[in-house]
Amino acid sequence: MILRQRSTLSVPGHIEKMHAKAFASSVDVVMLDLEDSVPVEAKYLARGQVVKTLTSVEVRKDLGISVRVNGTDTPYCFRDVIEVVEAAGAKIDSIVLPKADSAGDVHFLSRLLDGIEAELGTEKQIAIDASIESALAIENISEIARAPRVRSLIFGIADYSASIGAKLSSISGHGEEDAEVYPGHRWNYVMSKIAQTAKAYNLLAIDSPYGNFKDLLELGKSAKMSAALGFDGKWAIHPSQIETINNVFSPTSEEIDRANRILEAARTNPGRGAVAIDGRMVDRATIRLAKKLVDSVR
Ligand code: COA
Ligand code: MG
Repeated sequence: MILRQRSTLSVPGHIEKMHAKAFASSVDVVMLDLEDSVPVEAKYLARGQVVKTLTSVEVRKDLGISVRVNGTDTPYCFRDVIEVVEAAGAKIDSIVLPKADSAGDVHFLSRLLDGIEAELGTEKQIAIDASIESALAIENISEIARAPRVRSLIFGIADYSASIGAKLSSISGHGEEDAEVYPGHRWNYVMSKIAQTAKAYNLLAIDSPYGNFKDLLELGKSAKMSAALGFDGKWAIHPSQIETINNVFSPTSEEIDRANRILEAARTNPGRGAVAIDGRMVDRATIRLAKKLVDSVR
């Protein structure tokens, strides 16, 4: 079961030695990838390797496991789902559906899972993480969010840029040097749309990876920006990024302390709508924020 999802490490399905490294890391969710990190000539090899890893690996209790299948418009998707879930469904918490452009894509995957789970006789339902990575997906985002099994919306920055024809600002297209080409936060609209829709339907909002895995300072800034927009976590593409992401999406001891002081002030001033703490106004909305933060670390 996925308990929290600050960090998600994307791991190419065909590279066996990376699997052991990923499972031994401190990431919240390991995502074994069959899609874009796997070249066409390795698609079948990757499927087999993912099954082999999942059926043999020892998994720590609080680690979530996802598998990203290929998109519904490819010749690989349906067999990815059938072969991986039939063989290793018991270990899988969620399937990441890339390029979820409409609710129909999610319904297709959900129906397929209905059939496989019925045949296996399992009670556990595998969830779906819908990757929002095109202009059309933004058009259809509410229907996607309401479709069966969906537990999170993921921002796919590189494919989204390609879909809208946005000029690349760096070699990888995963969030670097954005400030140099656009004054303000370049992805504010689409990221806010994803976060707002996710929260409207009680889902998690998960951000894209940051492409320059050697630059942890800029990764930290990018993660703080997504946390500020309401995102719950961010993908990593390299193990070196996990700690920074986990830190950004965990409340600091000062934040927890401040939230507790706010709740204490609310308790001791029951008749007051607003009170002052450290020279700042604290009202019912601040108290709700503080309660949310304290509840998240219980
Ligand atoms: N998961 C698990 N282990 C990983 C890893 C990952 N995503 N990325 C790197 N590693 C391992 C390497 O195998 C290497 O292990 P070793 O020390 O036992 O040899 C170690 O971490 C250091 O790797 P490094 O040499 O710094 O990276 P690289 O140059 O080999 O690879 C990338 C760089 C970006 C190609 C690689 O990190 C990668 O493939 N990332 C995932 C890409 C992906 O999933 N993309 C799709 C999602 S957007
Ligand atoms: Mg993509």
